[in-house]
Amino acid sequence: MAFTSQHGGNIREAAASMGVEPHELIDFSANINPLGMPASLKQAIIDNLSLAEHYPDEAYQDLHDALARHHGVSADWVLAGNGETELIFNLVKQLAPKRALLLTPGFAEYRRALDAVMCEIREYSLSETQDWQPDEQFLAALTPDLDCLFLCTPNNPTGLMPDRHLLDAIVARCCAMNIAVIIDEAFLDFIPADPGFIPRLSHYPQLYILRSVTKFFAIPGLRLGYLVSRDIDTVSQIRKRREPWTINAFAALAGERVFHDHQYIEASHTWLKTERSRLFAQLTAMTALRVWPPAANYIFLRCERPGLALQQALLKRKILIRSCANYPGLDGRYYRVAIKSEADNNHLLAALRDVFSDKDVAGG
Ligand SMILES: Cc1ncc(COP(=O)(O)O)c(C=O)c1O
Repeated sequence: MAFTSQHGGNIREAAASMGVEPHELIDFSANINPLGMPASLKQAIIDNLSLAEHYPDEAYQDLHDALARHHGVSADWVLAGNGETELIFNLVKQLAPKRALLLTPGFAEYRRALDAVMCEIREYSLSETQDWQPDEQFLAALTPDLDCLFLCTPNNPTGLMPDRHLLDAIVARCCAMNIAVIIDEAFLDFIPADPGFIPRLSHYPQLYILRSVTKFFAIPGLRLGYLVSRDIDTVSQIRKRREPWTINAFAALAGERVFHDHQYIEASHTWLKTERSRLFAQLTAMTALRVWPPAANYIFLRCERPGLALQQALLKRKILIRSCANYPGLDGRYYRVAIKSEADNNHLLAALRDVFSDKDVAGG
C-alpha cells in the first residue's frame, strides 16, 4: 500500500511501517537543501543560546528590517511567520474569501486554510495532456465571482514553473477583477535567475507573495517564512490579530542572518545545477519512468510499470519517496523525489535500477 502522508518528510511513520529506525532511511520525500543548515547559522545559534531565556521582540523588528532590506521593500510590507504555513492560514483568515480558485494538483494547505474560513473552492484541473501547466485557457477561468486565487511557482508537486507571460496575464486579469492573488514562492530561492513577483509588487494592490526559508536554508524544524505585499492594511491587521511570539528566537535570528551567507547560497546553486541535470538525465533514461523537467529542487515522475508499487519497492531498499496518490487529480502512479547530494542521488538511481530489473516486480 502507498505510504501517503499529507506531506513529505514523514520518516517516522514510514520507518515504523518497515520496522526500521528513521535514520536508516534516505528521505527523498521532503524537498530540503542537502547542504544542511548553513554553518554560519549553526554558529550564530550556538553563540546566542541565551536568547532562549528571553521573550522574542513581539514586533520582530530586526527580522522584518532584515527581510525588507533583502528584498528592497518597506518593512511594513513584510510579515514573518512560524514557517510559511502559518501565513497561509493567517492571510486566508484575514482576507476571508468567499470563493477561491485552486489549481490541482497543488499544495494541500491552501485547501485546508480555505476550508477553515468556509470558503467555496473551485478547482482548475491541470492535465497531463497540457504537461501539467496552465495555458491561455486558464485566463477564462478567472471570473469576477471569484475573490481569491492561489498559485504556486514553481508548483508543488509538479516542479514546473508556469510561463512568465502567462503569469503576468493572470495577475493583471485578477487585478482588473479584484481577485486577490496569493503566489506561493516557497521554492523560488532555488531558481536564482527568477526574481519572482516581489520586485513588481508595487503595481498590484491585491497581490500577496509567500516565501519559505525552511527549504533552501534547510531549517524545516526551526520554522520560518514570510509574507510580502503592498496591501499594508491586510499585513498590519494580521500583525495585530495573531498570537504573540509565534516565531522562536532562533528562527528570527536565522532570518536576520541567512541571506548574508553568500558562500552557502552560491554553493547551493552550484550543487543544484549539477545534480539536477544529472539526476534528471538518468531518471529520464529509465524507460520505466516518465519524468517532467524540474524548475527547482524536486522531480515529478510517473511509474510506467503497471501494478508496481514503486514507493514500497524503494522503502524495502531504505529509500523514502513521496507518493502523490493523495493529490487531487493524480493517482498511485505519480511520485515526487527531492534532488539530494550526489551520493544520495546515486543510492536512489541504483535502487531504481534494482527495482526495475527485479523480475518479481517488473510487472510486465
Ligand atoms: C509549496 C509549499 N508552500 C509552503 C510550504 C510550507 O513551508 P514552511 O515549511 O515554510 O511552512 C511547503 C512545504 O512543504 C510547500 O511545499
